[in-house]
Amino acid sequence: MKVLEISGGRTLEGTIRISGSKNSSVALIPAAILADSEVTICNVPEITDTDALAEILDYLGAKVKRASESIVIDPTTIINKEIPEEMSKKLRASYYFMAVLLAKFGHVEMYFPGGCSIGARPIDQTLKGFEALGAVVKEEENRYIIDAKNLVGAHVYLDMPSVGATINTMLVAVKAKGETVIENAAKEPEIVNVATFLNNMGAKITGAGTSEIRIRGVETLEGCYTEVIPDRIETGTYIIAGALVGKELKIDNIIPEHVEMLILKMKEMGVQVEVGPDYVTVSKTDSLKPVRIKTQGYPGFATDLQQPVTVLLTQCEGESILEETVYENRFKNVPYLNEMGSNIEIVGKKIKVHGKTDLKGTQVEATDLRAGACLVLAGLLAEGTTTITNIGPVLRGYEHIVEKLTEIGAKIEIKEV
Ligand code: EPZ
Repeated sequence: MKVLEISGGRTLEGTIRISGSKNSSVALIPAAILADSEVTICNVPEITDTDALAEILDYLGAKVKRASESIVIDPTTIINKEIPEEMSKKLRASYYFMAVLLAKFGHVEMYFPGGCSIGARPIDQTLKGFEALGAVVKEEENRYIIDAKNLVGAHVYLDMPSVGATINTMLVAVKAKGETVIENAAKEPEIVNVATFLNNMGAKITGAGTSEIRIRGVETLEGCYTEVIPDRIETGTYIIAGALVGKELKIDNIIPEHVEMLILKMKEMGVQVEVGPDYVTVSKTDSLKPVRIKTQGYPGFATDLQQPVTVLLTQCEGESILEETVYENRFKNVPYLNEMGSNIEIVGKKIKVHGKTDLKGTQVEATDLRAGACLVLAGLLAEGTTTITNIGPVLRGYEHIVEKLTEIGAKIEIKEV
């Protein structure tokens, strides 16, 4: 079994360069199918999620050329066949293929998507969007069979600002006849990244990044070039690392406004953070003040940074309160942090973090992607050695995490045990 072994307490200094966004890439890669000629997507991170999606594209018959930081996709030879369950189960984002195959061929059969065990993660809003555009959705055991003789633009009212449903509805609406309006759309930067890609192909989307998105359907979409935005969750994770054990640590190639809420909260704690046009410099700061954090959709505090920031809360003098409003089961990291010496209580949708506590290395498990990130951060801070098992989820979301951390002074390695 592969584990991550970290010797804690070392100072991190120098520069860490942020990669392309996982959550953008996993939507952009399936979206390439909509084009009628070759597309190039740059700044694609080399993580197992993007590998899994490239494998699905290849299975469907697209020509895929993977370079180190980009992917060239010729979708002209795609055939509409069912994606095997073992492929689509690997990640939640496989359901973006449902949208693009429906838009392109008017029919799709697909297994329920996979994803981290942080909650039920229903996709009812995605199906609501498809149905609003004229699709007929049937469930058969654990797969969907979706038909749309013709897709017609409609007014789609999302019951909550779902990122996936916003993107999925957009992916289908670009090929529907007439105009589609998505109300209560999610505003995450990844949605803007996808809309820009589609508009580069010739789509007519306005309002991405706001709660009302308008899409005028078009007949054809041409191949083009697009770039993945920097990963704001990787950015936030390494900014937190700097606040824990950094010395003038520079997190480079970022869009600071995408992590604005994290930076504001860290300033409230008393962390020394310097914000540049495309970087942040941060140092370990003693005597941090406790804060209250509530996760929300963008531009609120990102739920994906909830588990990583918990490590920083254990270093604040006093009681911090963190409320998770997006997922119902995203505190699986807490028992492991408590085993390392933190003092955290789970009270319903909230955790109460009593700091400041010293952390000691021990064996822990990455129960999901961002819980794993939290435990890596805890290992960097803790005295002694921290061994993290089940590291697959961590490698899904953080490109070259061992190399990047080693380069700035961490002692971290993947071991076979
Ligand atoms: C995206 O997931 C991200 N994943 C998640 O990041 C992120 O946590 C989430 O957005 C919120 O920001 C990708 O982009 C691949 P949602 P998604 O649809 O699209 C409810 C990570 O760590 N909901 O906004 O699945 C349900 O409670 C991952 O990188 C419904 O009830 O998020 C769900 O948990 C984790 N019905 C919550 O909203 C629906 O149809 C958020 O869902 C859809 C959502």
